[in-house]
Amino acid sequence: MDHFQHKNGELYCEDVPASTLAEVYGTPLYVYSRATLLRHYQQVAEAFAPVDPTVCYSIKSNGNLSLCRLLVEAGCGMDVTSGGELFRALRAGVDPKRVIFAGVGKTDAEIQQALTAGGEGIAAFNVESEAEIENLARVAQAADTVATAALRVNPDVDPDTHAYTTTGKKETKFGVDLDRAEAVFDKYRDLPGIRLAGLHMHLGSPIYSVEPYVLATQKINATIDRLREQGHAVEWFDIGGGFGVNYEHPDQALPVSDFADALVPLLKDRGYKVAIEPGRYIAGNAGVLLGRVLYRKTSGSKSFVISDVGMNDLLRPSLYGAYHFIWPTAGDGPASRDKDVAIPDGETVDVVGPVCETGDFVARGRLLPKTERGDLIAIYTAGAYAFSMASNYNNRPRPAEVLVDGDRHTLVRRRETYEDLVALETGVG
Ligand code: LLP
Repeated sequence: MDHFQHKNGELYCEDVPASTLAEVYGTPLYVYSRATLLRHYQQVAEAFAPVDPTVCYSIKSNGNLSLCRLLVEAGCGMDVTSGGELFRALRAGVDPKRVIFAGVGKTDAEIQQALTAGGEGIAAFNVESEAEIENLARVAQAADTVATAALRVNPDVDPDTHAYTTTGKKETKFGVDLDRAEAVFDKYRDLPGIRLAGLHMHLGSPIYSVEPYVLATQKINATIDRLREQGHAVEWFDIGGGFGVNYEHPDQALPVSDFADALVPLLKDRGYKVAIEPGRYIAGNAGVLLGRVLYRKTSGSKSFVISDVGMNDLLRPSLYGAYHFIWPTAGDGPASRDKDVAIPDGETVDVVGPVCETGDFVARGRLLPKTERGDLIAIYTAGAYAFSMASNYNNRPRPAEVLVDGDRHTLVRRRETYEDLVALETGVG
């Protein structure tokens, strides 16, 4: 459930009409619902409460400081994957002791930054290779400290999602093969500068069934048993993120409680702490992207609706062929936010943007209610991997972001200006 609903003949975000937001802030515009964001965080925390998890929001999904601040105030930690994300997480007010740092390519500078964050450093690094373990230990030793780390293992489980976002299969660049985990723990048992005491997995994203998690957790639990038999401490297990959201129809995603119901029995009373790294599940349905129809045209047998939303604003359809539900903000809402919803007076169109690429589209061959120049459209499920993947391609300033709380709306990132586009360049003008 989210707080983007049609009432009184138009779309509202909580108690604010989308048309008001578009008038005040212009388009394209990212609109976030505070209530939806917090509700989804709470669902995760409550579902996994029986194992008292550390929930580390994956800040890559949406790093807006105001959203992150809300989550931090609700008790959330952060999963970061770059020095920039760590900087952002700290700026949002997160306790460094609730931060974990993932990623296959951490630089020495990023490691140093994480080791000293807030004085004491972050909670843990998720390490992805033997070379990285050795380097982390070296940098920590040089800084006269000891890095706490979890080994990211690759359980070779297929999460059945897009190839680009599948991460827990053997042929991906992530983690160490699970059957090498014992050798790695043995090899680095006494290495100064590092304390390897946890395991981490992240299978991919988005995932729509519990089986991959269950399979992977069973495999990893068996490895943990063997590690312990050999005298290794395994103090925590980080199960990563990946829980899907409803892009295509209202029952597409499992509630997070389904994942918890399947996993809690496997995670409970195992003598380790549990961490989770959800991003999309928390932020995905907490945002819509509002765009304005600029033109209509036909070309051959095709009809195009050209809006002011470009692939630079929302890359997912162009990059992954991802589906985002679209509906005009004026009039009645859809009977259901379902990709097969009947639209008796509809038309089949490509919804494209102004960017000079054929791949610049938000929808192709899509049955939609008829729209005209000036109409506002809402692109749903645009809270995660949407603004965070936006760029300035074609020298398009990135959209503004607005946070709605009841009948109040606050600009939480202003629209970029043309001056912003050239502000960092040196040598001319
Ligand atoms: N933990 C790790 C180590 C990750 O790499 C990711 C996402 C997450 C947690 C959070 O996954 P989530 O709960 O948000 O599914 N740009 C793609 C998604 C890439 C995900 C990358 N890693 C998209 O737009 O679908």
